[in-house]
Amino acid sequence: MARARAAVVMAAGQGTRMRSALAKVLHPVAGRPMIHYAVREALALGCAPVVVIVGHQREAVEARLAADFPGAPVVTAVQAEQRGTAHAVACAGPALAGFAGDVFILSGDVPGLPAATLAELDAAGGDAAVAVLGMKLADPAAYGRLVRGPGGELLSIVEYKDSTPAQQAIDEVNAGVYRVHADFLFDALGRVGSDNAQGEFYLTDIIGLSVEAGRGARTLVLGGDRALEAAGVNDRADLAAAEGRMQARLRARLLAAGVTMIDPARVVLGDGVEVGPDSVLEPDVTLLGSTRVGRDCVIEQGCRLVDTAVADGVHFKAYTVTEGASVGPDCTVGPFARLREGTVLHAHVKVGNFVETKKAELFDGAKASHLTYLGDATVGAGANVGAGTITCNYDGKKKHRTSIGAGAFIGSDTQLVAPVAVGDGAYVAAGSTVTEDVPAGSLALSRVRQQNIEGWVARKQARDAGQE
Ligand code: UD1
Ligand code: CA
Repeated sequence: MARARAAVVMAAGQGTRMRSALAKVLHPVAGRPMIHYAVREALALGCAPVVVIVGHQREAVEARLAADFPGAPVVTAVQAEQRGTAHAVACAGPALAGFAGDVFILSGDVPGLPAATLAELDAAGGDAAVAVLGMKLADPAAYGRLVRGPGGELLSIVEYKDSTPAQQAIDEVNAGVYRVHADFLFDALGRVGSDNAQGEFYLTDIIGLSVEAGRGARTLVLGGDRALEAAGVNDRADLAAAEGRMQARLRARLLAAGVTMIDPARVVLGDGVEVGPDSVLEPDVTLLGSTRVGRDCVIEQGCRLVDTAVADGVHFKAYTVTEGASVGPDCTVGPFARLREGTVLHAHVKVGNFVETKKAELFDGAKASHLTYLGDATVGAGANVGAGTITCNYDGKKKHRTSIGAGAFIGSDTQLVAPVAVGDGAYVAAGSTVTEDVPAGSLALSRVRQQNIEGWVARKQARDAGQE
């Protein structure tokens, strides 16, 4: 029978080197806080519970976990004072009381590590009490070094600050990710001291302790292309590098799924964004949040879509910005359009340049082609909203709705003062201010009638000349 799995995710530190008011693990990578990835992959591996060690900004970290993993077996344990990684894991003791399987220990600041690699680590560990994930790096920097014996067997981990020059030459480093048998773990943690360069309780000491106790220690070292899979984030440069690796991975996934990108390096994706096959993403496109794009779409240069659902065959022209919108099949939007929250475009809708929509529902084939604001509005099928139309939805205190019927024609430069309704097939003359409902099939005309005063210019010029 497979052994039970649990996880401990270390996330209590402030992350001083980030120089940030925000706790390190809450910094986003591809739109999600780093802590999200470690917890998600632990859950994917079947770990229950996943114990997150919190300290700095614990309320903010807990709120984020509750929002991201509702109903999942994720719990937190508080480490009030950060006394080192061994002390952090020991704080999970009460939450794991009576647990007798494998404990996966992860860092909240390692966002790129998939569950599959954790399963590989477990397999590489065999019956050893401790399995450590390693990385073989050209620049091993300040990571802890994996110290091996003459036969290549893992003996211990030495922290950079405690290492000798000979140890600093070792290019195999500790990724800070482990699989440890629970019965050994909590016993060993009780024996870790703090007599080292940083005066901290080092989790890495359990490797030497396991070797001494004859319980064994093994390592899976990632090299080549995979070496940075487990890279940690300590400062902003690391954060940027982690973001770059994550973006490359997300783009590669979409390219493999049949999406065209003219310049992939200039496409920014949030984790979880989906794009269907035969869609084209032009340079400087940003797709974030829960955005889903269908197949056969074109998203031109400079578009930014956040939490937006896009059906098949949609054409976003350049520099369109959307948030919380839903766009039906074969719509055309932009250039320079802004679809705000609660916008719903049904099929074949056209929204043109400098049009802003908010809580607006446009039914099949409706058009608003130029310079228009539609807020708290419904626009019926096939209606045409002329250039410069404004729904005056706000009276200074409350928002009111405008309803435009199917097949209606709103002339240019019209103000619709809500609450107001224009019936099906009605016309509104250009330049009108509509304050009363317009019955279906009628023409509303509210502008001042034009008068032409003949010969006026000549008379004015004569007057002006007489005054000189
Ligand atoms: C640790 C390892 C090092 C490894 C590196 C990989 C130790 C002693 N060293 O060093 O060998 O190469 O990770 O990234 O383990 N944390 C707590 N409470 C604490 C201390 C840390 O929750 O008391 C958390 C931090 O918030 C962070 C993680 O543990 O998420 C790692 O801590 P960090 O201080 O970054 O360890 P490193 O010095 O990088
Ligand atoms: Ca670290």
